[in-house]
Amino acid sequence: MKSDNAQKLFKLHSSIYDWTRKLFLFHHGRAVSKLELKKNETVLDLGAGTGFNMPHILQYVSPKQVIAFDLTQAMLDKLKEKYPDIQTVQGDILNLDIPYSKAICSNTLCMIDDIETALRMITKNMKHNGIFVFHGFSLNTKNPLYWLCNKLFKFWNIHMARGIPHLLKQYFHDVQTTKSAFGWNTISICKNPILS
Ligand SMILES: C[S@@+](CC[C@H](N)C(=O)[O-])C[C@H]1O[C@@H](n2cnc3c(N)ncnc32)[C@H](O)[C@@H]1O
Repeated sequence: MKSDNAQKLFKLHSSIYDWTRKLFLFHHGRAVSKLELKKNETVLDLGAGTGFNMPHILQYVSPKQVIAFDLTQAMLDKLKEKYPDIQTVQGDILNLDIPYSKAICSNTLCMIDDIETALRMITKNMKHNGIFVFHGFSLNTKNPLYWLCNKLFKFWNIHMARGIPHLLKQYFHDVQTTKSAFGWNTISICKNPILS
């Protein structure tokens, strides 16, 4: 999906996002735990949306140490209602310019048409010894529900079955991937960016 279309879609969905997405977006806590957050660290949530990762991130660090980054201001406004002390930054991952040590991106990379630029920006902004956690759908073509959702999401240009963990290996030397929620979800821990 192109960024301007994503912005329109999520502006429209911002008021129904929380109750609709709880039905099929899982394991945010598990993904956040892979960041190995320490008390004094700052964390960047890329495509933070309305803040599904926040209750889990706040188990490790204070709200002042979190940056919620998203393309859609309406989604960030919803996040701010729930977490007023968290800093929000409206922007496009394709133009990311926030150096980070720990970053997470949940259920967002599948939306972005230009995934190569997105991953290049994510690697470029990573500091020495940083960790990037990718969290999203896995490539599970055997599950009939998955097949149905994939068809549905294609209508919005959401690339559910893109196989991002495989792609991540072109951008990081060290990628460890696990599946969860009966193969529905993937979490990849990425370290040591390949900088070109
Ligand atoms: C499916 S929501 C995921 C939100 C949250 N991470 C979660 O797991 O519930 C995708 C979010 O990505 C944002 N988004 C889409 N394309 C983006 C881009 N190019 N840069 C930054 N955010 C983007 C949308 O505005 C939306 O809030």
